[in-house]
Amino acid sequence: MKVLLIGGGGREHAIAWKLAESELVEKVFVAPGNGGTALEAKCENRALMGEEAVAFAQAEGIALTVVGPEAPLAEGIVDQFRKAGLAIVGPDRNAARLEASKVFSKDFMSRYGVRTAKSRAFSEYREALVYLEALALEQRLVIKADGLAAGKGVLIAETIGEAKDALFSLMRERTLGDAGKAVLIEEFLDGREVSVLAAVSVRPGVRGVIRPFVAARDHKRRFDGNAGPNTGGMGAIAPVMDFSPAAQADFIRHILEPTLRGMEAEGFDYRGFIFFGLMIHRETCYLLEYNVRLGDPETQAVLPLMDADFARLCLAMLDGSLAKFPLAWKRGAVCAPVVVADGYPGAYCKGNRISIDRARFAHANARLFVAGAELRGTELYTAGGRVFAVSAYGQDAFTAREQAYSALEALRFDGMAFRKDIGSVL
Ligand code: AMP
Ligand code: GLY
Repeated sequence: MKVLLIGGGGREHAIAWKLAESELVEKVFVAPGNGGTALEAKCENRALMGEEAVAFAQAEGIALTVVGPEAPLAEGIVDQFRKAGLAIVGPDRNAARLEASKVFSKDFMSRYGVRTAKSRAFSEYREALVYLEALALEQRLVIKADGLAAGKGVLIAETIGEAKDALFSLMRERTLGDAGKAVLIEEFLDGREVSVLAAVSVRPGVRGVIRPFVAARDHKRRFDGNAGPNTGGMGAIAPVMDFSPAAQADFIRHILEPTLRGMEAEGFDYRGFIFFGLMIHRETCYLLEYNVRLGDPETQAVLPLMDADFARLCLAMLDGSLAKFPLAWKRGAVCAPVVVADGYPGAYCKGNRISIDRARFAHANARLFVAGAELRGTELYTAGGRVFAVSAYGQDAFTAREQAYSALEALRFDGMAFRKDIGSVL
């Protein structure tokens, strides 16, 4: 069958590779894709704008469409495809509000008893300010913009003063536009973060199912030791050694199961992926957020461990057979450091040639997942802040890390930068 994959980042390169591995799949069109998907076996990039995707899928006889990023999901791409009778993996627009509106998402959590940080929602600046002023001084708070903000919508305030500044810039100055129309003021939770990706198959009138994947950990800060500014993710490791069986059981009971019951009760049509962003404090899990898609760069670490046919998994999510789908995982670990252009997440250079010492790269048990690089002729050139991830397998996390960093020695470009501690810090 022919598959269409929407998106063009590192996550999509990993999904395209995993889809292409399936014997069911004859071709993967990636829209728009990147320099990595252009080189991947069975894959072909296509530039498709908005509505063009439906027409393309019909004309090409696409049997399955998979959506990588949140923006098209929030805009209702799933509704459009289903209306046209096309098979697509993802939540519909209504269910995508679990990510697209933090206020909606928090209400959902409290309605169905999903354990999360305490918070209050505000759509009036004055009211939010009065609330802040009544709080005890010098407590850490988290201020969150309601809408999608490409990872920039969460501000951690060390003091009430900082919280007030954040509120002013979001709600009055509208630094993030309409995303800041409403905000959440939330208690700060201390602990270790874990990302759990999962496959969901929920439809009105039938019993739903959520199948979690092996857990992963992203490293969001730019510099070693979790220092410096937040980024889109500097690397991931899977599985997470400190996500204990007790914490996993707590996650199932207090987060996954109430989420599933909530989706059923709301009458969602949610046949797609979900991402649980967890904070774990002494074996107790709190849900920080839902994303209605796979994570980036978590996907680059998790999919190489999946010992199952990804295309068949997608079909099982759609046809209601997910509960009995043989979802298995390889033993061992994958470490996936992300390589960025120097200066990122601030200003950085583009257009530098990436040189690859293929013999040396082949020595490490690794694959390259491109995020921001384009193909010119037969060579890759940098085209974004996050340029690529190297996903290396090892029998344990230590070996996976060694393999990943040895594979990185085979790659070079001017201004190449990366963290050296992916998978070795909490
Ligand atoms: P979110 O988009 O809600 O996942 O927030 C982005 C990041 O902000 C998370 O990955 C955490 O690192 C941090 N964060 C969000 N909410 C909280 C909280 N209540 N306490 C501490 N850190 C938080
Ligand atoms: N790694 C975090 C995200 O995908 O949102």
